[in-house]
Amino acid sequence: METTATTTKPGILSGIQPTSVLTIGNYFGALKNWATMQDEFDAYYMVANLHAQTVKMDPAELRRRSAETFALFLAAGIDPARSTVFVQSHVPEHTQLTWALMCNAYMGELSRMTQFKEKSAKTADNINAGLFTYPVLMAADILVYQAKYIPVGADQKQHVELTRDIAIRFNNMYGETFVIPEPYIPKIGARVMSLQEPEKKMSKSDPNPNGYIRILDEPDVIIKKLKRAVTDSEGEITGNPERAGVYNLLSIYSVCTNGSIEDSVAHFAGKGYGDLKSGVADAIIETLKPIQTEYARVLADKAYLNEMMKRGAERAQATARKTVRKVYHKMGFDT
Ligand code: TYM
Repeated sequence: METTATTTKPGILSGIQPTSVLTIGNYFGALKNWATMQDEFDAYYMVANLHAQTVKMDPAELRRRSAETFALFLAAGIDPARSTVFVQSHVPEHTQLTWALMCNAYMGELSRMTQFKEKSAKTADNINAGLFTYPVLMAADILVYQAKYIPVGADQKQHVELTRDIAIRFNNMYGETFVIPEPYIPKIGARVMSLQEPEKKMSKSDPNPNGYIRILDEPDVIIKKLKRAVTDSEGEITGNPERAGVYNLLSIYSVCTNGSIEDSVAHFAGKGYGDLKSGVADAIIETLKPIQTEYARVLADKAYLNEMMKRGAERAQATARKTVRKVYHKMGFDT
């Protein structure tokens, strides 16, 4: 296998939590771009399983979902020969760097994180310290690989900005250490909205399954969910972002067909919402079909999956170890 250790390409890193089966929001906001960025960048992609315990998860389920999420990455076109793809907990340097960064992050800035506010409002009985400090672990994920670009959906922008602030602060204090990262957010698909409440983002933890489409949903489920999608009473298909339901469907159609919103409006010109919904359903089914087929194949080959996870972790660790050594040394820790 080829090694990326001596590459001069800019680094990129991103991750997805294995909290449940991924949605088309995760696909269009992140995963789709990951696949297209593999050649141009030195790419690190991880299953963010440490992050997943900030909401309580059954250990056996977490283990199973981590492996399934890894398989889904491969099925979506992440190529372990071109990218370093791994499971976060296999590389303990992430948590080692977290401690160093934690001492350079402030309670005030962490308490301003929108996701912390939202999640703690939802799980008032489990506002654990991990939920609060989670953005520092995310900063460590990014900085430990010296990643320059972070391909994420719009909801993660604030966390990447916090990572920048921590990295700049650290460099000022201890001398040039970290590459300063930037979010890389797609023009369309950065915020796929719920099919039921189009003012809210599509989320895999939505209690109403009609709000989201999973990457692994069967065609008949996709058709049914699209039929129930909330639109409005205007009847005409235009590209007005304020008409959240219709605009969301047009955006999904655009990312599926790699076109612009204008192309999609032109495609549905003179048609009704029934045509829009069935057109979007067909486009999603077509987009997901090859991923679903490949997923079934990859998941069945446990030996291959385990081997790829092991190699990915070794490659990731080789890079991460160098950063942790450098950081610890600069801070006055002997290892
Ligand atoms: P997570 O697991 O919530 O989401 C994974 C990725 O999917 C994107 N995403 C969406 N994009 C568009 N529309 C949506 N409705 C939608 N829902 C989710 C997210 O923006 C994200 O890119 N903390 C991260 C995981 C993580 C990470 C990292 C990301 C851990 N360490 C380091 C980047 C770099 C998270 O919870 O993503």
